[in-house]
Amino acid sequence: MPLKYPELENRRIIIGVTGSIASYKILELVRGIVRAKGQVKVVMTRNATKFITPYAFSTLTGNPVYVDLFPPDFSWSPLHISLSEWGEVMLVAPATANILGKAANGIADDLLSTLILSFPNPIIFAPAMNENMWKNPAVEENICILRERGFEVIPPEKGELATGKVGEGRLPSPETLLFWLRKCFYPQNLKGLKILITAGPTREYIDDIRFISNPSSGKMGYFLAEEAVLRGAEVILISGESTQPVPPGVEKIVIEKGEELEKEVKKFFPSCDVLIMNAAVTDFRPCKKMEGKIKREGKLSLELIPVPDILAGLGKEKKGKLIVGFSLETEEVEKRALEKFKKKKVDIMVGCLQKEGYSGFKVENMEGIIIYSTRQKERFSLTKRELAELIMERIAERRFEK
Ligand SMILES: Cc1cc2nc3c(=O)[nH]c(=O)nc-3n(C[C@H](O)[C@H](O)[C@H](O)COP(=O)(O)O)c2cc1C
Repeated sequence: MPLKYPELENRRIIIGVTGSIASYKILELVRGIVRAKGQVKVVMTRNATKFITPYAFSTLTGNPVYVDLFPPDFSWSPLHISLSEWGEVMLVAPATANILGKAANGIADDLLSTLILSFPNPIIFAPAMNENMWKNPAVEENICILRERGFEVIPPEKGELATGKVGEGRLPSPETLLFWLRKCFYPQNLKGLKILITAGPTREYIDDIRFISNPSSGKMGYFLAEEAVLRGAEVILISGESTQPVPPGVEKIVIEKGEELEKEVKKFFPSCDVLIMNAAVTDFRPCKKMEGKIKREGKLSLELIPVPDILAGLGKEKKGKLIVGFSLETEEVEKRALEKFKKKKVDIMVGCLQKEGYSGFKVENMEGIIIYSTRQKERFSLTKRELAELIMERIAERRFEK
């Protein structure tokens, strides 16, 4: 089976664990890295070993766990130097208020804090603490210092904390931490771009409780959003009903009807650099929505009218922006995608085949053709994740062509 996160394969990752109750989540994170065939070495503070034993980490990683700056079996090479030479990236998670303070002030009084000072590659901090500690001005100032110096500090989440209270300061999930590690191994070729992505289905109501829609899961759009943030873009995702997890760092705006989608696209379009229209818009709506619930009494005819074309209404605002359209077709994919490419004045049109159980809705695969403004065409038969990767790569190439 292909690896879920191939970008982590054979990567050398150091995880610094400090004395927080949230350290139990790191066992799951380490498993995730090992599953992705990454190599992990864990460095623990002495206080961290009071929460989790080093044996748990060494068993999961297949590597020794490092705690002491002066271990009993000290050899000629100091540990903080050999670990600095080994690691490609370091994630300190959970990061206590204490380690943040030490890192911000250049204190090196144990193995982990000394390693932070000597480590030449990217370091990410994932703070976790009680809300009062998180909002303490000393901690806030230390976070500012670390960010100013170019360290990534993952914002903690709001939710139930270890004490049972609800507040800000919770360590993000292992999957989210893994996401930030994956980002380190992606080309940051979309950094500085603001990308607006629409995803999922729209609904057009017949009466107060029934609607016309389509089976879009939103998967393609969410993969596009994930791929864009991994490459450093700022992403706004306008989404219809979808159970897909929202990628970390993505701002999600929920819509239901086509007119809501249109309103949100118009609102964010002027400030974005790239628009990707991936939402499965329900192209027709009833001429008149009935009030209440239509009774089941004999035959019923619905008169439908086309919904407005959102892209057509954006023409004047386009300026230097890049617009990517999607078109899902049951036949003549290339011909129809080309027609839409011309009519909608997009820069890239992704024509996809809808074939039950093979390509399109409800399956992982997409087959089709991409048409570029250079008149080039590119056929594809890929998973949705791979297609998202290809599209973002093409957007990055066009960015540097300008
Ligand atoms: C049960 C318990 C839970 C703790 N959880 C946290 C925590 O989540 N975040 C934090 O910053 N400190 C927490 N502390 C306090 C730290 O363990 C303490 O500041 C310690 O000096 C940190 O040492 P270290 O950064 O070297 O691991 C906790 C302490 C105890 C006793």
